[in-house]
Amino acid sequence: MSPFHITRILPEDAAGAALRADVLGGLHRTPKSLPPKWFYDARGSELFDEITELPEYYPTRAEREILLDRSAEIAAATRARTLVELGSGSSDKTRHLLDELSGLRMYVPVDVSESALVHAGEALIAERPALDVHALIADFTRGITLPDTPGPRLIAFLGGTIGNLLPAERATFLSSVRSLMSPGDALLLGTDLVKDESVLVSAYDDAAGVTAAFNKNVLTVVNRELGADFDPDDFAHVALWDRDHEWIEMRLRARTALTVKVHALDLAVDFAAGEDLRTEISAKFREDGVRKELAAADLDRTHWWTDRKGRFALSLSVAR
Ligand code: SAH
Ligand code: AVI
Repeated sequence: MSPFHITRILPEDAAGAALRADVLGGLHRTPKSLPPKWFYDARGSELFDEITELPEYYPTRAEREILLDRSAEIAAATRARTLVELGSGSSDKTRHLLDELSGLRMYVPVDVSESALVHAGEALIAERPALDVHALIADFTRGITLPDTPGPRLIAFLGGTIGNLLPAERATFLSSVRSLMSPGDALLLGTDLVKDESVLVSAYDDAAGVTAAFNKNVLTVVNRELGADFDPDDFAHVALWDRDHEWIEMRLRARTALTVKVHALDLAVDFAAGEDLRTEISAKFREDGVRKELAAADLDRTHWWTDRKGRFALSLSVAR
């Protein structure tokens, strides 16, 4: 069986130190907010995988359709020997790329979720004994150092996860990805596209309540890691389309006035009745906007593919 390495870039106490800073910064300001990376403990990663199966949540199916249709073309254009995947999660759709990248020597999944990396890595090495898998537990918003791997490299960032970053964060992130790239390397980027509001809102407020459970999971993470006493039932799941910013906002809305104690921070946080805590944005894109954001990071887009219904896009870019 091939080797499966897992390297922790985040310190063991990352869920402590970084979460403290984010909770202190995010719950003290108005409006209150938390970064979405805190959804993804083992339960949050499971809930995300359930979301991808929901009838309302079209992005995973749309992106899979593009990957099934285009992976051979992506392989021919990149001839990648290393595939780096940021926010790899279950690596499920990635298998379509792995099937076509015939010269691939190494797969480097990068994620904050250790449980997702372990599950995905173990399954992959069992299925593909010739593949070297070197997983990194790392936060892609903090700059990544990659292991020494053979080029050309293809860096994949799938699922539309780039849309979970604010515009300024996206610019910083794309520049940091660009700085990892050598001549001949490429970036494969998944972006969800602007569409009818009702389709978007349903995708983030499904009938079975899985997205609501995913949203509230962040409260469970803060309770466990920082000794807070959030009661998830005190909050309602809210998904709104912000037509000016062209993003979905997920929020948790306090059902009544309440105070939450965060023991590890010696903090008491007051919520007014109806006050929102923003937990995620999920930006939706247009073709020209994606090209411009890539160009601003010195990346030239060479390919743009959408699914047949035009809901989701994959683009391939090279360093200028
Ligand atoms: N790429 C997969 C998973 C998308 S879910 C797909 O397309 O289905 C988003 C993934 O990104 C999760 O696995 C989550 O743990 C990871 N993630 C979110 N924020 C992250 C961050 N700042 N650094 C690294 N991984 C992150
Ligand atoms: C990971 N990311 C692209 C998902 C999204 O659609 O923004 C996270 C998610 N949030 C609610 N449902 C799914």
